[in-house]
Amino acid sequence: MRQTPPPRTYRVKSFGCQMNVYDGERMAELLAEQGIIPAPEGEEADLVVLNTCHIREKAAEKVYSDIGRLRREDGTSPLIAVAGCVAQAEGEEIMKRAPAVSMVVGPQAYHRLPGMIAEAVEGRRAIDTDMPAETKFDALPDRRKVGPSAFLTVQEGCDKFCTYCVVPYTRGAEVSRSFKDLVEEAHKLVDAGAREITLLGQNVNAWTGEDAAGRAIGLDGLARELARNPDLHRIRYTTSHPNDMTDGLIAAHGELEKLMPFLHLPVQAGSDRVLKAMNRSHSRDSYLRILDRVRAVRPDIALSGDFIVGFPGETDAEFEETLSLVDAVGYAQCFSFKYSARPGTPAATMDGQVPAEVMDERLQRLQAALNRDQLAFNQASVGKRCTVLVERKGRHPGQLLGKSPWLQSVHFTGDAAIGDLVEVELTEAGPNSLSARLLHPAHA
Ligand code: 5AD
Ligand code: SF4
Repeated sequence: MRQTPPPRTYRVKSFGCQMNVYDGERMAELLAEQGIIPAPEGEEADLVVLNTCHIREKAAEKVYSDIGRLRREDGTSPLIAVAGCVAQAEGEEIMKRAPAVSMVVGPQAYHRLPGMIAEAVEGRRAIDTDMPAETKFDALPDRRKVGPSAFLTVQEGCDKFCTYCVVPYTRGAEVSRSFKDLVEEAHKLVDAGAREITLLGQNVNAWTGEDAAGRAIGLDGLARELARNPDLHRIRYTTSHPNDMTDGLIAAHGELEKLMPFLHLPVQAGSDRVLKAMNRSHSRDSYLRILDRVRAVRPDIALSGDFIVGFPGETDAEFEETLSLVDAVGYAQCFSFKYSARPGTPAATMDGQVPAEVMDERLQRLQAALNRDQLAFNQASVGKRCTVLVERKGRHPGQLLGKSPWLQSVHFTGDAAIGDLVEVELTEAGPNSLSARLLHPAHA
């Protein structure tokens, strides 16, 4: 590698889950603190951070093609840093195969980017996929400017070892950030403009900590503390594991007004045999019972989940059990995926890998059912009055976009500003959004 001038502009491209979005924002803040500015739209950046996701297929190939696309006509490239879970899992390989990459940094080490950039400017390549004892959060700059809806990572990693999943290997064991740090960061987010905070974690409901009085608390305790901030109006959390739905968290859904009526609780499959082979440690029934209990305290709760079709050995009859579970729940929205064999996971070498055509057909049928339910959920909301947190301008003049309490996208025209919480009546439903009528003039 040759020496390059220090980068003046950057671009961070994040793929995958919301935790990557959060990490991407924090990296951007870190770069800004170094005096590097966001590259103007349409212009090449001096430094590109590819914040990658490894959860499903072709993750690495996608990174290599992205790197290829950054190459200029004269064969040179901007400074490239590969971050995120592909960096963690395949960092050495990336260094070997992609000479254009000068930095590889894992999800627990990105606070060290400034030092790595200094190395790269001198012409030295650097790789850091440590899971250091010091926490990156302590080394990151304060949150200064955020949108009305902000993310806050409270927990990272996973100890569940579902047999198809790479997360326990790429993100490491479950770690909770401290109560004190989180309360501080949440207040800073609110001071910087956030009206809604989504608490993030691979197993966010496994968060545990000690409150100011030294009592052991769970995620519900953290949410209760954050709710005391009068300028924070909404709290959400994602993503959860059924086994960590504690009594306290379920109760909070009935008691804590600021906790939004939305629960993303992945189930993955409807057959007990498949769930067992996935090492999910919950059954179809125990999952449904949790949803019943949440519905009992919060009848209007919108439910969401994740599904995998075509897990090794999944039969037609077992797939039908996934469809019947979907019918039984009536989800408001869901994510669904074809099983993807991930190197190093137990499922990758299991017998009975399902042919691609079978997976395609199952995914189509599942998504048809989920889309049907999503539209039905949206249609059932028509006529309801609710608050919308205005997040941005819409495509049409005067149009504003925001979210309902049930995480539906809502658009309306009227006098309101970004960051306002407005009262609307939902008037019309589509599969992915609703239109609404503004009930009160804003700032009234
Ligand atoms: N194949 C397909 N989907 C997967 N997910 C995780 N690992 C895999 C895999 N190997 C899905 C699960 C999880 C979501 C984040 O990604 O549904 O809940
Ligand atoms: Fe992966 Fe399972 Fe952990 Fe979720 S709970 S991150 S699916 S191992």
